Amino acid sequence: MKHIFQKGTDITAPVLVLFHGTGGTERDLLPLAQAISPTSSVLSVRGNVLENGMPRFFRRLAEGIFDEEDLIFRTKEVYDFLDQAAVEHGFDRNNLVAIGYSNGANIAGSLLFHYPDALRGAILHHPMVPLRGIQLPDLSGIPVFIGAGQNDPICSPQETVELQKLLSEAGSTVAVHWEQAGHQLTRSEVEAAGTWFKTNL
Ligand code: MLT
Repeated sequence: MKHIFQKGTDITAPVLVLFHGTGGTERDLLPLAQAISPTSSVLSVRGNVLENGMPRFFRRLAEGIFDEEDLIFRTKEVYDFLDQAAVEHGFDRNNLVAIGYSNGANIAGSLLFHYPDALRGAILHHPMVPLRGIQLPDLSGIPVFIGAGQNDPICSPQETVELQKLLSEAGSTVAVHWEQAGHQLTRSEVEAAGTWFKTNL
């Protein structure tokens, strides 16, 4: 997959894996990595799917309606890519923390829904429930931060609560940070994620 790898100054710090939103690129979230953990190595990935020229991580049939077959296929593709990237760039495969926004948060959420060992933590900005009706793996010891907007027209507050419940029932410790805002990523939400990261990872 197209990506950027930046080696950090602290090789014991979690490696941040960045997943952009629809229409973004692997450059978009680099400032977030700097804000959350400036000494970490960073692996920032570009989604392999194009929707009218806009990169995404999996296909959708309409706004909020995912192509589940493609989602499962693309989740495995990203999982396999993380294995390969660890070998290629020489980082610890077991020390990855995702930061995703919107569609990028959804692919990171899907990694958590499918694999017990894909990530050791995740910061999900404005995620949805990626898939329903599946048994989640044991996520004990994998903390998750969810940033959500009270007025988000894409990820409704009810869906945020549903996602928190599903991840918690699988054993994850989930912190939800609410903004009086919509789908956009605000500075205060990033600051809250940074504080959460320092205490949970
Ligand atoms: C998705 O398709 O993953 C969500 O609707 C968010 C987005 O617009 O990317």
